[in-house]
This record gives sequence, structure tokens and C-alpha cells, in this order.
Amino acid sequence: MGFNLLARPYHLLEKAVFANRLQHARCSHMQIFLEAKQILLLGEGDGRFLEALLEEGCRAEIIYYDFSMEMRDVARKRVEGKGGNVRFHKGDIHQLSLPDNFRPDVVGAHFFLDCFREEELVGIIRRIGTVIDLGGKMVVTDFQLPADSWIARLRGRLLIRLMLLFFQVFAGISARRLPDFYKLLTSQGWRCRKKALCNQGLIGSWVMEIPPDKRS
Ligand SMILES: C[S@@+](CC[C@H](N)C(=O)[O-])C[C@H]1O[C@@H](n2cnc3c(N)ncnc32)[C@H](O)[C@@H]1O
Repeated sequence: MGFNLLARPYHLLEKAVFANRLQHARCSHMQIFLEAKQILLLGEGDGRFLEALLEEGCRAEIIYYDFSMEMRDVARKRVEGKGGNVRFHKGDIHQLSLPDNFRPDVVGAHFFLDCFREEELVGIIRRIGTVIDLGGKMVVTDFQLPADSWIARLRGRLLIRLMLLFFQVFAGISARRLPDFYKLLTSQGWRCRKKALCNQGLIGSWVMEIPPDKRS
């Protein structure tokens, strides 16, 4: 199982629950992508961030990387005629490998790391660290438990639980709870350079960087 079944209705489901908030969060650090030379978009799904990037006039070489063929097809169709230098790769993050001449200075991971269990993420994050350029950045956009009021936390907890259940049933994701990817990233040496919060703290977008001496 995977995300094939969800590829076409994905944007409608998202809009029904979150209106435009997730897209707003994905685009929080657009400037960092626009300044990049080589961009790797991990689990980019139906390509809405890619589309926004191309519409902003991105000139970087981009690799779209996703395991789902349907998602890839929807994304490819979405950006048809929008220009840009994009290669579409179907692959599993657990075996992530890139062409020799491609060393991304920016990696995008929007609503992607939450698909995995923490034990898996240790290896996934290590792997990303081996392919990223020296001084490269990773922009991680994902859900988190709001820090503020208990009502916001309760609402967040319920929503996150329901979403995880939905994706377990319809896409077979392995995550059973929201992984603490921030803790996992920092424990491997990644440092947060910038952070944006959306939707009352339920969604965050972090610009993470790994010092050269901490790379695997
Ligand atoms: C929750 S969706 C997020 C899609 C998109 N990034 C977004 O912001 O909406 C997760 C995406 O990760 C992809 N994915 C899941 N497991 C993967 C894996 N092991 N390797 C590569 N991509 C994977 C899915 O096919 C799906 O497109």
C-alpha cells in the first residue's frame, strides 16, 4: 500500500480540513529555495509546493523524489508548461541515492517525516545528511503539538491522531504517533536557523542546517 490511492483527491481532502493553511506553511521559507542551486524535494506528493516554486521563477536544478507513481504523475501534470529544471524520481527514501553531479544545497521535506516511526527516521535523517551539500539546509514543514493553551493542545492532539489513523488505513504509513523529528535532527547535529509557526502553532516550518563536522 502507499499514497497512490490518495494522489488525486489529496489536495481536496487537505483543503476541506485546512483550507490554504498547509500550503501557506510549505511556502514559509520560499526565499531559501529561490536562492538555492540544487533542490531536493522529498516526498513532494502531488507537487503543490513544486508548482509554487516554479511560479516564483525558481532557477535551481530540482529533483522531485517520491515513492508513489500516482503522486509523481499528478505532480508532473500539475507543473506541465511551467518551465523550470525538474527531474522526477520515483524512489524510497530508505534507499535514497542521487545522481553523482547532484548535491542539493536545499532539501525540502513538507509533511513527509511524519510518515515514519522514530526508529526509521534515525536512518533516514542520517541518509539525508550524506547527500546534502556542505552548509546545506533542510526545510522541514510538519505538524507539532501547540505549546500554548491546553485547548489548542487538545485540539492538536485529536487532529494529529485522526490524521495519523487516516494515513495508516489509506496509505499504510508506519508512524503510530507524531515523531519528534526536531529532537532526532538536533541529536544528529542539525541546528535550527529559522522557524515559522502557522495555524496557532499546530504547524511549524523549520530551517535546519548541519555543520560540516557533524555530517555522517
Ligand atoms: C503526507 S504526503 C505529503 C506530500 C507533500 N509533501 C505535501 O506537502 O503534501 C507524504 C508523501 O511522501 C511519500 N512517501 C511516503 N513514504 C515514502 C518513502 N518511503 N519514500 C519516498 N516517498 C515516500 C508519499 O508517496 C507522499 O507523497
